[in-house]
Amino acid sequence: MKIGIIGLGWPGQQHVKAISAHKEEASLSAVCDVDTKKLEEFKGQCDTFSDIDEFFAKADTDAVILAVPHQLHETLTVRALHLGKHVLIEKPMARTSVECKKMIDASELNHRMLMVAQNWRYTPWCIAAKSIIESGELGDIQAVRTEWLLNFRDAFPKGSWIYNGELAGGGAITSLAIHNVDALRYIIGEVDEVYTNQLYTDDWSTNGAENWAMCQMKFKNGALGHLFTAYTPFHPVDNGKFHVYGKEGTMFYGEYRGEPGLWIRSAKRSLDSNADYERVDEIRLAPGLDSHPQTNQLKHFIDSITNNTRPESDGREIIKTIELVEMMYASGSKSIPLRLSTGGEINA
Ligand SMILES: NC(=O)c1ccc[n+]([C@@H]2O[C@H](COP(=O)([O-])OP(=O)(O)OC[C@H]3O[C@@H](n4cnc5c(N)ncnc54)[C@H](O)[C@@H]3O)[C@@H](O)[C@H]2O)c1
Repeated sequence: MKIGIIGLGWPGQQHVKAISAHKEEASLSAVCDVDTKKLEEFKGQCDTFSDIDEFFAKADTDAVILAVPHQLHETLTVRALHLGKHVLIEKPMARTSVECKKMIDASELNHRMLMVAQNWRYTPWCIAAKSIIESGELGDIQAVRTEWLLNFRDAFPKGSWIYNGELAGGGAITSLAIHNVDALRYIIGEVDEVYTNQLYTDDWSTNGAENWAMCQMKFKNGALGHLFTAYTPFHPVDNGKFHVYGKEGTMFYGEYRGEPGLWIRSAKRSLDSNADYERVDEIRLAPGLDSHPQTNQLKHFIDSITNNTRPESDGREIIKTIELVEMMYASGSKSIPLRLSTGGEINA
């Protein structure tokens, strides 16, 4: 499969690494970035383009990976699909569910794959966590808490599109915690109620991009949820954490005794007296997976195209993550809890 990549920032480079890990099935045939400095290392390796129109006119590709700013997700995805390319689009799928719908329609019309790079779904710990919950080891899930705090200022300079809510489609929830939101749906199940509080204390941010957000949730299965995210915290420590509390066990992804991983304590396990939690054997529960999620993700993309099967993070699945984010923002802007199943106020 000949693959082209548009956008060569950090995520674009992860896709380059993933393609090189699957040399027998895939090759990098073309790259495109408006920043010509980023094209230098690819000269002689594959075709390089600094102009998107030229890329779409000349690049020899079966599939295109899009790792570009959010305001380009819908238009470039639809364009690639209409040209008969399969598309792997970076997260968030798009800024709104209306944009997502147009992408899904283009995928269906052209019979081409549309997969979203919600790469947590391809990490061994996420797959292992889902499998443990489905096994019933933790009993009924009563609560879940997830956080992602990261200071964007090291990576994105003042004036970047990411601080503009109009271009990014939101703030910390959309640009950062979309991973956590999608993982909540993937691991725990569908959310029915949300209540969000947001803060706008970043003088770099405009057009409704929140730099802090907290969201309370109630899942359809009755569990409570809590999401906490920010992109301006001062040296945060709570990056990418996920805690699940079941009636008969507790499990969390994060650092414990200096070691990152998925940790568990449950009524079914007997621990040695020095341990509070046991490290989950992720490899046993997610066999054959690489520690680099984008490598697993690309393999799944290629296999889904080859076998004509629906991928785990198919556009029709991930639009639901965007709809949940929209409901979180609607709750925040109205300062009231909202129910997804009725699309309205809980106390109406
Ligand atoms: N999966 C992950 O873990 C992860 C991590 C970070 C970012 N992302 C996502 O990846 C995407 C890109 O994020 P980023 O941090 O690399 O952003 P970025 O602002 O660094 O942009 C990525 C690249 O796209 C190029 N670009 C911009 N407009 C272009 C155009 N019209 N034509 C060609 N190239 C263009 C830029 O020059 C840049 O090199 C976003 O959707 C972001 O949310 C995903």
